[in-house]
Amino acid sequence: MCGIIGYIGERQAQSILLNCMARLEYRGYDSSGIALSSTNIEVYKDAVRVNELVKALPKIDGIAGIGHTRWATHGEPSQVNAHPHCDCTGNIAVVHNGVIHNYQKLKEQLSQEGHKFVSETDTEVIPHLIEKHYQGNLEEALEATLHEIEGSYAIAAITANEPKLVVARKDSPLIIGLGDRENFIASDVPAILDYTNRVIYLEDGDVAVIRKDEVSIKNDGTEVAKKEHQISWTVEDAQKGGYEHFMLKEIHEQPKVIRDTLGEYISLAEPIANFSALSGQPLEDMLLVACGTSYHAALVGKYIIEELVRIPARVELASELSYTQQPLARTGIVAITQSGETADTLNAMRRLKGAGKKVIVINNVVSSSASRIADQTIYVRAGPEISVAATKSFTAQLMALYWLALSYSKVDISRLDSLVMELRQLPRKVQQILDNAEEIAECARYLAKYENVFFIGRGINFPVALEGALKLKEVSYIHAEGYSAGELKHGPFALLGINTPVIAIATQDNTYQTMLTNIKEVKARKSPLIALAEEENGVIGELADLVISVPKIDAVFSPVTNAVALQLLAYYTAKQRGCPIDTPKNLAKSVTVE
Ligand code: F6R
Repeated sequence: MCGIIGYIGERQAQSILLNCMARLEYRGYDSSGIALSSTNIEVYKDAVRVNELVKALPKIDGIAGIGHTRWATHGEPSQVNAHPHCDCTGNIAVVHNGVIHNYQKLKEQLSQEGHKFVSETDTEVIPHLIEKHYQGNLEEALEATLHEIEGSYAIAAITANEPKLVVARKDSPLIIGLGDRENFIASDVPAILDYTNRVIYLEDGDVAVIRKDEVSIKNDGTEVAKKEHQISWTVEDAQKGGYEHFMLKEIHEQPKVIRDTLGEYISLAEPIANFSALSGQPLEDMLLVACGTSYHAALVGKYIIEELVRIPARVELASELSYTQQPLARTGIVAITQSGETADTLNAMRRLKGAGKKVIVINNVVSSSASRIADQTIYVRAGPEISVAATKSFTAQLMALYWLALSYSKVDISRLDSLVMELRQLPRKVQQILDNAEEIAECARYLAKYENVFFIGRGINFPVALEGALKLKEVSYIHAEGYSAGELKHGPFALLGINTPVIAIATQDNTYQTMLTNIKEVKARKSPLIALAEEENGVIGELADLVISVPKIDAVFSPVTNAVALQLLAYYTAKQRGCPIDTPKNLAKSVTVE
């Protein structure tokens, strides 16, 4: 989704803005632009990536400016639709993330008053409204504008008349980075880590004025004191660190992510926690809500909870929650979101809160919107995830779900002990898969020539089949579908044949024998078959065309090892096909629209 950057200080803003914008690329975008303030406002923008913008730009003076990476919603990617947008005088420039719902009406009114619009965007009404209300004070004009617009926004505005950045936030993230005689604004922390790790998180309703040596914030007209946060993420965390792609780096970070998340929460001697948002009454069931990869983590969570806590768990796509029944009084509710900014998930959480429910969120980004809505946040320790495709955040979410389920577990003590022992082994077992990357890369080279692939799994690994398919389609552009192995014969069999490979997850649990039958059915239809099987599984080797071996582990933890193997498979397949792995087309890291 769109990214915002702003700088004010003593250095030339141009290269700082462009550098920060390059760090925001992972959010997904189609256009980029900057506005610099000196004696007048200079705007450069186009439907190009940041590196092309860098090449096209002349050197422009200015120690204050704003920048934007646009992910088109209103109007195609083009030079005129790219941000920043200006008023009629060209003296006010604005960048905006979010959606202005009443922009059509405002545009008509402003046009009747003589304002000239050049773009198809909703954003363009903002600089014109600021112009209309401007009487020498940018923040007052922005505040008057906010009274007229409806929707979600992070807005940054500059004018050549005043040496300051003015920003506002509602339902779209925005942070202020604090430097030494310079300050920054950004949609996201990784954008400014090169310059500072001291940040202020803006809240909904905040309007802030940022000067080079002063930040003041008001909410509803009242001055608010803001807490400064020290970010523990380092520049290296947000860089490739020698890996060819962020996705590969993030896959390889997973043993550490597991250790960090476990270390944070699970005292392995006594893996019990107290979840305030779940206390008060005995839990009768659980509801898990999420989107995309986080939804797949939630689906795995259902199996974990049902097996360990022995209560029913229901999983809903966040975007579908409004069409389903409200949870019961004794339902424990968990939302899952890596970014904490996914509009569908935030809306589902608000709906649940509106109905008087308590909500826990599993989240990777400190002070995200989701944490602000939730009654309790379980922060996972994945670190910044830059690649659009979620990998390490999925694993970290599973760790949080294991922790939650172990805390409420009804299994006997010897089973609990053995689960905790296995958890200790998990980072080492994931490392074993990473060390086996060449075997997976070979399977990827084989897979890369096909255009349609099925993933099948059973039980707790059915959601892993869904996740394997999602990973493959988003990074390699191969059409992939995940199925419960039992469902394949209820329709998709019509598509099997020599051009449609099937990836089968053959974990040796209570699903194994039936999976072997399913594999034989697939082979009888001549589909090429790649199996994920535990090492020393001789039978699978005879049935499958290729085998990816994964370490043996208690089946309840097998989604972690299997998912890591499938992440690598997706990565190497995409690499073989020459895809832009970290920034797949049309996708965004943080999906802030419904
Ligand atoms: C897929 C992917 C997306 C996200 C989804 C939800 O690799 O990254 O499917 O999982 O957009 O995002 P979060 O977890 O930030 O709510």
